[in-house]
Amino acid sequence: MDRLLAAAHEAIARCRSIAECTEEPGFTTRSFLSEPMQQVHGLLAGWMQHAGMDVCTDGVGNIRGCYKKGVKSDRRLFIGSHLDTVPRAGAYDGVLGVVLGVSLIQLLDHRPLNFAIEVIGFSEEEGLRFGSPFIGSRAFVGAIDDELLDRCDPKGISVRNAIHEFGLDTSRILEARAQQNALGYVEFHIEQGPVLEALGHRLAIVEAIVGQGRFLTTFTGKANHAGTTPMHLRHDALVGAAEWITAVEARSRRVPGLVATVGCVSVEPGAANVIPGSVAATLDVRHAEDSIRKAEASALLNDAESISTRRGLSFRWEARLDQPAAAMDPSLMQVLEQAVIEAGEPVNRMVSGAGHDAMIIAGYMPSAMLFIRSPGGVSHHASETVLVDDVAAALKVGLRFIEGIEARHE
Ligand code: HGY
Ligand code: MN
Ligand code: MN
Repeated sequence: MDRLLAAAHEAIARCRSIAECTEEPGFTTRSFLSEPMQQVHGLLAGWMQHAGMDVCTDGVGNIRGCYKKGVKSDRRLFIGSHLDTVPRAGAYDGVLGVVLGVSLIQLLDHRPLNFAIEVIGFSEEEGLRFGSPFIGSRAFVGAIDDELLDRCDPKGISVRNAIHEFGLDTSRILEARAQQNALGYVEFHIEQGPVLEALGHRLAIVEAIVGQGRFLTTFTGKANHAGTTPMHLRHDALVGAAEWITAVEARSRRVPGLVATVGCVSVEPGAANVIPGSVAATLDVRHAEDSIRKAEASALLNDAESISTRRGLSFRWEARLDQPAAAMDPSLMQVLEQAVIEAGEPVNRMVSGAGHDAMIIAGYMPSAMLFIRSPGGVSHHASETVLVDDVAAALKVGLRFIEGIEARHE
């Protein structure tokens, strides 16, 4: 079997092994520094060491493998993605990018380079546990603050304590920061959408990543008896939130390129025979243009305000993320495009509707991304998958990309 195809089969098998490391038996759910992340680190550390890498874990739980055979300078290329997941996720979102980084080092067969390559598995990108995404890559660019470290999960455990419970030392968080003169960061990631499948192509170069805003909203009404309270005397928080959620969809359908999602709703007190007194609902708003995204987000929050007033509810919200759109580095994209051509693949360029660690890193060092086709256009779901030939093609591009960087820095 062709060695790239064999490496692709191995990478897919490794992603599936990592998918078994879960907080929820039968599903793949792995949040920031949860217990299963220890098992993931154990698997990755073994694979990284076998590939000839020095392995460490930094102060926010990013696992980092460095390949520096024959390297005399401090020049370094980073290859990475995230290891955490959404609830009941697939096996490839994030993880594939880390596993392919290790596969590429393996495929170098201990060949000396004129720069080091560090493969990094970020500890948190989705924001599942603390409602605040990108903890791993924020530490990588030196953007962790006390506000984030003091943020608590639903059990009242702070980020700071979660780090300690994982056996790490928060005093080492600053060491996680990458050198600023790095050659760059490249992220291999599933597309998570339908574009490449519709084109019938394997790969795409990411030009930019849309900006995203995340909010936590609260509708407060009056809990009361479901049997004795007449309909006209109610202040039902859930009905108010429901009216708003349909308004979110209606408004978003009217604005080209806007997507808005209410993905998580919690109702209190949450009993069948009690009128809901309060509802907490998340809002995720994205658009390629930050000005449009922000204008529409405030319009959606104003809609919630006016619905609440009309229904005798109170409404409040807090911003959880305001992540501007990020352009990928033209020069690194050029190297990637040349690698795609040399690998015999058609050149596709596209904008990412999904957020990625690369959007955090793009402001800190030159960053680029390569998308791999998502059959069925599905992601953030157990049926997320990849095709082995597409993964082999991505590895071929990755090796050409490394050669391209080498040629630039002879
Ligand atoms: O939400 C996103 O776009 C990414 O999967 N974190
Ligand atoms: Mn994701
Ligand atoms: Mn991802």
